[in-house]
Amino acid sequence: MAMEAAAPHNPAEPTPSANSVELTVTSPEQMRELGRRLAKLLRAGDLVLLSGELGAGKTTLTRGLGEGLGVRGAVTSPTFVIARVHPSLGDGPPLVHVDAYRLSGGLDEMEDLDLDVSLPESVIVVEWGEGKVEELTEDRLQVVIHRAVGDTTDEVRRVTVTGLGGRWAAADLTVLSA
Ligand SMILES: Nc1ncnc2c1ncn2[C@@H]1O[C@H](COP(=O)(O)OP(=O)(O)OP(=O)(O)O)[C@@H](O)[C@H]1O
Ligand SMILES: [Mg+2]
Repeated sequence: MAMEAAAPHNPAEPTPSANSVELTVTSPEQMRELGRRLAKLLRAGDLVLLSGELGAGKTTLTRGLGEGLGVRGAVTSPTFVIARVHPSLGDGPPLVHVDAYRLSGGLDEMEDLDLDVSLPESVIVVEWGEGKVEELTEDRLQVVIHRAVGDTTDEVRRVTVTGLGGRWAAADLTVLSA
């Protein structure tokens, strides 16, 4: 049987394994709801990287994620700790919430945190992790939150969710905007 030759990749297009949706979120409550929806797509071993300026809504999104995963403890800004583990209240994976803002050494430093949890068996959400934790896995969900308006009192956010790697290639991210 003849094999079809793979089409050459056009560099102007996103990488073939990238899968992306863009959403508009108009309130903190909607951001939480987005987190709850995102939770339904996640399973043990998944890595979510959150980026966006100070006060963009990364922790607010993570709060909804924690609710959706059904984990113990309120998700707050981990100001004094680099990472916090929220165990599942049921039989789901724990949520490991990392604030990498003050993490300079990348993955090694993450492993040195000695979190009392197995990272491959957890859902890991990292704020400020770009350039620091990508080496954990090629498969990751990148969430970029932008203020739609420069004004810091405005509640409208543009959110881009991009799934990278085989794990996310066929995932239906449109469920996030339903
Ligand atoms: N659409 C929105 N989504 C999320 N938060 C919003 C929105 N509109 C206003 N807010 C407000 O913006 C703030 C977001 O704070 P949050 O701690 O979630 O941001 P952050 O990105 O985690 O910041 P930091 O970089 O300091 O960690 C909250 O006070 C929230 O009420
Ligand atoms: Mg935060």
